[in-house]
Amino acid sequence: MNIDYSDRIAALLKEMTIDEKIGQLRQCGPSIAGAFEVSFGELLNMMFDGKISKEEFDRLMSTAHQDYREEDIRRGEIGSFNGIGDSATINRLQKIALEESRLGIPLLFGYDVIHGFRTTFPIPLAESCAWDPDLWQRTARAAADEATAAGIHMTFAPMTDVARDARWGRICEGAGEDVLLNSMYGVAKVKGFQTEDLSAPDAMAACIKHFAAYGAVEAGKDYNRVDMSMQKLHEEYLPPYKACIEAGARAVMPAFNDINGVPCSANTWLLQDVLRKEWKFDGMTVSDANAVRELVSHGVAENEAEAAKMAMTAGVDMDMSSDTYRRELKKLVTNGTIPEELLDRAVANILRIKFELGLFDHPYQTDEDRESRTLMKEEYRRLALEAAQKSIVLLKNEGGILPLKKNTKLAVFGKLAKERGQMTGAWAIASKDDECVSLIDALDSCGADYIYDAAGDSIEKSAEAADVLILTLGENKEESGEAASRADIRLKKDDLDIFFRLKQTGKPVVAVLFNGRPLAVPELHDGADAILEAWYPGTEAGTALVQILFGKVNPSAKLTATFPYSTGQCPIYYAHINTGRPGAHSKYSSKYLDTPLDPLYCFGYGLSYTEYEYSNINVSAFGDEIQVTFQIRNIGNTAGDEITQCYIQDTAEERIRPVRQLKAFRRVHLEPGESKTVGYMIPLNDMMYYDWQMNRKLPCGNLKIYVGSDVNAPMYCELSMKEMKVHK
Ligand code: GLC
Repeated sequence: MNIDYSDRIAALLKEMTIDEKIGQLRQCGPSIAGAFEVSFGELLNMMFDGKISKEEFDRLMSTAHQDYREEDIRRGEIGSFNGIGDSATINRLQKIALEESRLGIPLLFGYDVIHGFRTTFPIPLAESCAWDPDLWQRTARAAADEATAAGIHMTFAPMTDVARDARWGRICEGAGEDVLLNSMYGVAKVKGFQTEDLSAPDAMAACIKHFAAYGAVEAGKDYNRVDMSMQKLHEEYLPPYKACIEAGARAVMPAFNDINGVPCSANTWLLQDVLRKEWKFDGMTVSDANAVRELVSHGVAENEAEAAKMAMTAGVDMDMSSDTYRRELKKLVTNGTIPEELLDRAVANILRIKFELGLFDHPYQTDEDRESRTLMKEEYRRLALEAAQKSIVLLKNEGGILPLKKNTKLAVFGKLAKERGQMTGAWAIASKDDECVSLIDALDSCGADYIYDAAGDSIEKSAEAADVLILTLGENKEESGEAASRADIRLKKDDLDIFFRLKQTGKPVVAVLFNGRPLAVPELHDGADAILEAWYPGTEAGTALVQILFGKVNPSAKLTATFPYSTGQCPIYYAHINTGRPGAHSKYSSKYLDTPLDPLYCFGYGLSYTEYEYSNINVSAFGDEIQVTFQIRNIGNTAGDEITQCYIQDTAEERIRPVRQLKAFRRVHLEPGESKTVGYMIPLNDMMYYDWQMNRKLPCGNLKIYVGSDVNAPMYCELSMKEMKVHK
């Protein structure tokens, strides 16, 4: 339902003073009330500028408490907050804005609702392994219901940064390395957050991020530069953001990084030519934290005034927590450096979203009663369990050691088995540790016969009485997410020491990984009897794990990010090119001397307690579409969901094309012995690429269409474009 608010916006703009206009562009983060009385962004700058030490910064951040400068609200000099997550505070501040400021413009409350609010779902990288758009939308809907019950109007999500380097800590926050998966994941989240009526009290605006290509930071180092061809940017990084805009996302967050030397927050080509003109986006943009002021650190802005001018000109509407607009814009507009029309443009974009959210017509969208009834609803716990069940990947199951028999005697090792708070992963700001179920909790609840030896102090003794040993290991959630890049993604020495000691007992060892990125785990690959990749499964982590361990649930998840043998292979991803010297057969081929060429676990890979057989692939061309059909049968004795995948290789084009690209997938439920026919219709347009001059081209070479259970699917059909009547 698209209502045109332009008249109401224009009328309001006419009444607003320049201070009130600039106030609308100001988003305050958690303010630091300590000795400095400054915002998070200002504090960050003081540390960057060497005015305070890192220790002082950390101390002050630890004293952060929310004193929201209520006087600024009364003066109409704050338009939005980030990071307030309770209805009592939100309604109190909203009342001040509505009743005590001159124009009564409502505040917009944003929050990082990344994978749930109070009920925590698996981290996005985990949930993406479900390959289930319906699930992704349902968990977003639940998160929006909880967050709006707490008074939140906008989430800084989904993150749809294609990420192919496991050293980057933020790979945990998106749908992995594939373009199609990130696009479909993002669209599902936007629909789940916003619904068809953004003004509904349980709908919240989606702010897609980080625009653009943040996942391609050089060397996997957070906040680092991004430098790539325009072809690669358009073919492999922009499509997920575009899909989200087409799905109706109402906000965009420019990324911290530059693209080819121009920071996104000052990138007029990106924010005007692409976002506004080509994609017709009419929502609002909000900078990433402190990013406006960081144009100075990037070295493109001489000073903060220049930073404000560049960001405003490029099209950053709202300034998150740097207060650069607050300090610099009035002077720049009054002295004519920045035309007031640009200021009005930014204010209008923000007011439009506030109107669309219904904040002018019904600003109080929740209360403490709705909040207490909604948060952590039993229905959302059940949904968190479903999401966790579908996100945990079975990577290895030697001799079918899993599922375990009910009376199996277990010895459990590793501190992560009991740490509820670790199960939420990064960005679970509103979750409460004790509401999460750990593996130990779940073993207790199901009456399992186990002993727990967290540190492995008495491995030999603990193992003696056990039939199967379970080792939990991986990384702490603090080693994942923002500002958490790692130059070495191997398992920790202590964990490996315990693992090898467990191996020496001769008992079967089941490794359970808790981590936010692919890890280099060749030791487990070689020596463990079974490996479950649990990621950070969220509120119902332990329950889902125990159900999979004992076979109540048949694992179905498949990897959406490639696992390397070693850190040195990063970035490693499936949609690579062939090179002129593919393979490792000869000395003079594209490979390493000291590491295998292939990954440890490939994209799309995941085992089940049953087996599936693919047959009868058939490909035909219908106008501008390719139809692929095939049979799939469950040839085992356990029901399960198989994620069927279809990849296409395009050869003999004007530019090199990836060896395979995912073009369709579908979850299929099959009872033992059951067989189904599955069909995909793939528009030729999905195979477009850009030539050297950046002209969009349809494929005109030969297509190889692969169907199977992971990216290495062997079965394929060939299709010559020359035989197809391709419409130019
Ligand atoms: C952070 C992140 C961004 C998040 C924002 C608001 O720096 O880069 O993803 O949404 O700040 O908290």
